[in-house]
Amino acid sequence: MRMVDLITKKRDGGTLSKEEVAFFVHGYTKGDIPDYQASAFLMTVYFNGMTEEETAWLTEEMANSGETFDLSSIEGKKVDKHSTGGVGDKITLITGPLVAAIGIPVAKMSGRGLGHTGGTLDKLESFNGFSIDLSREQFMGLVNENKLAVAGQTGNLAPADKKLYALRDVTGTVNTIPLIASSIMSKKLASGAEAIVLDVKTGSGAFMKSLDDSKKLAETMVKIGKNLGRQTVAVITDMNQPLGFEVGNSNEVKEAIQVLSGEKITDLREISVELAAHMALLADKFSSYEEARAHLEACLDNGTALAAFRTFIGAQGGDTALVDNPELLPQADYHIEVKAPVAGFVHSIDAEGIGTAAMYLGAGRATKDDDIDHAVGITLKKKQGDAVEQGETIAILHARDAQAVDSVTKVLASYTIDTAQPKKMELIYDVIS
Ligand code: URA
Repeated sequence: MRMVDLITKKRDGGTLSKEEVAFFVHGYTKGDIPDYQASAFLMTVYFNGMTEEETAWLTEEMANSGETFDLSSIEGKKVDKHSTGGVGDKITLITGPLVAAIGIPVAKMSGRGLGHTGGTLDKLESFNGFSIDLSREQFMGLVNENKLAVAGQTGNLAPADKKLYALRDVTGTVNTIPLIASSIMSKKLASGAEAIVLDVKTGSGAFMKSLDDSKKLAETMVKIGKNLGRQTVAVITDMNQPLGFEVGNSNEVKEAIQVLSGEKITDLREISVELAAHMALLADKFSSYEEARAHLEACLDNGTALAAFRTFIGAQGGDTALVDNPELLPQADYHIEVKAPVAGFVHSIDAEGIGTAAMYLGAGRATKDDDIDHAVGITLKKKQGDAVEQGETIAILHARDAQAVDSVTKVLASYTIDTAQPKKMELIYDVIS
């Protein structure tokens, strides 16, 4: 088999066989197929797509390209949750302990942020001493004991995805359904969960900007999961503005603690409970969606979800005093108020713009080797649909320098303020199961 023949076949609208897909994945992972041929191949997929079967084979081959996790020594049905990536998305910090609080084991392998999107590991490392480097035994032991552990993805989990994702990132081939679906699902399959809840973001801050494309992505991933024996549900949620009011690592941890303490931060609480309810239903914990929601809401209001979070942070070496006193989390030196240039209503807040402004402050990475600053970030004082006076504060930047000019400019450009009152955005668009 020759790679050039696979490239020309896909370029001309042909369909690959299972053996050809396997040839590409294994050849590229081992280094036998060079980046220039893999790039050309990815671009043919970007323009010509893949059939359902091709996408399923690609996922399976990527999942099996390295180590796979066997979670069978953990008691109970293991349920995982994965977000397609957004801004202000601290939902794992809430759903993890919330679901653990009702006895469902969550063995979570999370990633770091890149570009305008944040990563759960970076947020958790706002806690002094918190460790994501767990041995397999420690990881399994913590899930059995506390029902929740979060670790970094081991180097050899779905290595084909690792290599291909890095190549996609620099060849303009990230935003395409078969490649996103196979990338996410290969990691979920390799990390061993029996059931998976996907939070598929849609809107300006998401990979999929239109609802139609987000639905297609969700349907593709649900089908892959089912065909490979994992119960999978996808919830399509809004990413037309950042989630909650806080963006940046410590900031997001503080806001997650507020929700875990029962505060009614509407969008964040609503989407967290929705995803947690689907996790609980997949784990066969409740007989109805309503019953699941009622239990989970109670766990947020009666302190059990917060207690599970405290236990989890402490068990991985983090300083639990910060859970009870979030003001002790890393703090920036300057707090710069961004003022509304005109009066009116906030029509939209470009989530990608706010994520990029936070990255300029140091909260995120422009390249994967950058260090991040846990203290910096952005607090949104006004959200979509809110009325605003001219000169009123719309956002506060938590910065290391007194001006942060680029970030201020970016935040201002991300807000669209107009005179007519807009309709409030929906939070949850669809559930695909
Ligand atoms: N997240 C992933 O893991 N892969 C993608 O391709 C997009 C988002």
